[in-house]
Amino acid sequence: MNLPTEHRRCVLLRQDNGTYRLTFEQTKRPEPGPHEVLVRVRAVSLNRRDVYIMHGQYPMPPRPQLVPASDGAGEVVALGPQAKRFRLGERVAGTFFQRWIDGRPSAQTLGSALGGQLDGMLCEYACLGEEGLVRMPQGYSYEQAATLPCAGVTAWNGLMTRGRMQPGDNVLILGTGGVAIFGLQFAAAAGGRPIVTSSSDAKLERARELGAAATINYLKVPQWAAAVRAATDDVGAHQILEVGGLGTLQQSIASLAGGGHVALIGGLAGFGGDIPAMALLHNNATASGIYVGSRADFEAMNAFIEQHSIRPVIDRVYEFDAAADAYERIAAGEHFGKVVIRLP
Ligand SMILES: NC(=O)c1ccc[n+]([C@@H]2O[C@H](COP(=O)([O-])OP(=O)(O)OC[C@H]3O[C@@H](n4cnc5c(N)ncnc54)[C@H](OP(=O)(O)O)[C@@H]3O)[C@@H](O)[C@H]2O)c1
Repeated sequence: MNLPTEHRRCVLLRQDNGTYRLTFEQTKRPEPGPHEVLVRVRAVSLNRRDVYIMHGQYPMPPRPQLVPASDGAGEVVALGPQAKRFRLGERVAGTFFQRWIDGRPSAQTLGSALGGQLDGMLCEYACLGEEGLVRMPQGYSYEQAATLPCAGVTAWNGLMTRGRMQPGDNVLILGTGGVAIFGLQFAAAAGGRPIVTSSSDAKLERARELGAAATINYLKVPQWAAAVRAATDDVGAHQILEVGGLGTLQQSIASLAGGGHVALIGGLAGFGGDIPAMALLHNNATASGIYVGSRADFEAMNAFIEQHSIRPVIDRVYEFDAAADAYERIAAGEHFGKVVIRLP
């Protein structure tokens, strides 16, 4: 479709009678305000969160009508008169929380999520505050950079910032989705011993190729905590990326090594669950709530990615007009790694 140059095409998630649906809308291209940057978005990646939001199942309710997707990358095409952090033409990715720069988050910074409280990236042009962007890692394509802001930063924060992972750590990764595969890659690159669970032997084979030292099919081995202990000489997991929630938390806790850390991230098997205080106490173990991370986390992750030449695992790339198919791919749970949408 040929549009007048001052327009942009966006996907809009609209709420009708309690259900959300995706539509394509043509709107006026925004002018960047004093400290804003206009980004020509080239690629977006979807997260499980985007599917939850579409189905009205996300624990942090979004606006009733919004441009979805937290994760996008593109080039800077216009600068506000006082914007100084970037130059025209630079290749950038948006940060999940537009106002969480560093240190501890506040209610205000946690209320600045793209594709949730704020319009997201599934749009030809996105106007963001200059503080809410990072440079893409060297040598990355837009499709690769678009995978990083939510899944990559969450895995990084859980393992490194909060988990303080050490070489030699046994690292338990649940499933083979977006967060999980970044966790696997980071753990392997940092000298850890990744142990991956999946419902699919074929996906476990791919996990081994990416550096998994041990794999467990959680459908064939429903009591997989015992298998984690067996795979670690009864030491257990020093780091756990807990993306399962209700249906997996008790077994994750039972998998913990002494002094271990469980990063409470997700709800693939239902959001919530109880932490048995005595199990942590007896183990000198720690549980942390993880909600993505700050811009400083993103920048530290990018430096690590460059140092270790890590490339994200992209499951499939969809064209903009097929955005709904990308949502379907995630909802079906068939993907391995990240699902990406390319913009025109
Ligand atoms: N707190 C945060 O900041 C944050 C950030 C990102 C994501 N999350 C949450 O973390 C979870 C993962 O997000 P994502 O985007 O990585 O999801 P995703 O890409 O959709 O992950 C899907 C994969 O999870 C695995 N899975 C499903 N049920 C499982 C179970 N019972 N046990 C183990 N693995 C299971 C499956 O792997 P197999 O096909 O291999 O079985 C599935 O393919 C979601 O609940 C999401 O909301 C939270």
